[in-house]
Amino acid sequence: MAESPTTDPSSVTVITGGSEGIGLSLARQFAEAGHALMLVARTEPALQASAEALRQAYPVTVHTVVADLTTEAGRDAVEAAVHASGLHVEFLVNNAGVGNAGPFAEADPGELERMLQLNVMALTDLTRRFLPGMIARDRGGVLNVASLGGLVPGPFQAAYYASKAYVVSVTEALAAELARTNLRVSVAAPGVVRTQFHVRMGVKHDIYIKVLPSMDPDRVAQVAFQGFMRGRRVIVPGILNRANALAIKLLPHAIVVPVTRLLLRRRPGPAERA
Ligand SMILES: NC(=O)c1ccc[n+]([C@@H]2O[C@H](COP(=O)([O-])OP(=O)(O)OC[C@H]3O[C@@H](n4cnc5c(N)ncnc54)[C@H](OP(=O)(O)O)[C@@H]3O)[C@@H](O)[C@H]2O)c1
Repeated sequence: MAESPTTDPSSVTVITGGSEGIGLSLARQFAEAGHALMLVARTEPALQASAEALRQAYPVTVHTVVADLTTEAGRDAVEAAVHASGLHVEFLVNNAGVGNAGPFAEADPGELERMLQLNVMALTDLTRRFLPGMIARDRGGVLNVASLGGLVPGPFQAAYYASKAYVVSVTEALAAELARTNLRVSVAAPGVVRTQFHVRMGVKHDIYIKVLPSMDPDRVAQVAFQGFMRGRRVIVPGILNRANALAIKLLPHAIVVPVTRLLLRRRPGPAERA
């Protein structure tokens, strides 16, 4: 297991989107290392069920906050819950995120706005709220969940890929700002992960889902947690994904973007074809 700082009993690790998928897997990693948790999601039954399962499996306190992080009120609720608990945030894991697929010109404006509110604004706002306390204590850090898609423009998922490019950029910049502190600031950039994410985006029949390697969320979380605790800045789980990331870095956009376009081209499912 990665070396984890001795746990501070007056601290909590906040994980957005901690009720399922990669967020829940990350919650297991932090709980296993002895960190008290505060999980945030909108759907209360799923959130409570996941929190209870974690309490049964690990000797840690698990707080929950039912909040929609696309709203300022939702972000206020997280901050209020931290204050009410009397704990301070040692680690903030900005994991909650949604995707948006299809031609940009046909995207629903409300969905685009909600995606950017969650993927960009919630991550930015929560980090801005909790980072000063971490700096004052010179302890803790921020783990952001971006995507391999944050390393390349993504035709037919243009705004989603751009939102993840923001996450990569802001994290690397923050890490450089805080280089002289003891804080950890990392970004995880997974490839395709087997969660409900792509089903929710309505892309489970698209070419990239079929041809790109996919990973189990527990493995992704394990690699992300270990990388974070070791102070790695950009963490790409999976050897094939690391090869893809290298190709994206080395090859010109004139090659990489058309290939990405081919992979992300929309492909109707059987029901849509009928
Ligand atoms: N799956 C992949 O292939 C993949 C690849 C690369 C990167 N990622 C990134 O990894 C992160 C997690 O993805 P995942 O695959 O684990 O997704 P997921 O299985 O769909 O889980 C998403 C989590 O976020 C929560 N959430 C969604 N909207 C929210 C909102 N408005 N306010 C608060 N919580 C919200 C969900 O709970 P509620 O719905 O109850 O709110 C759930 O807990 C995302 O940032 C995603 O972009 C995923």
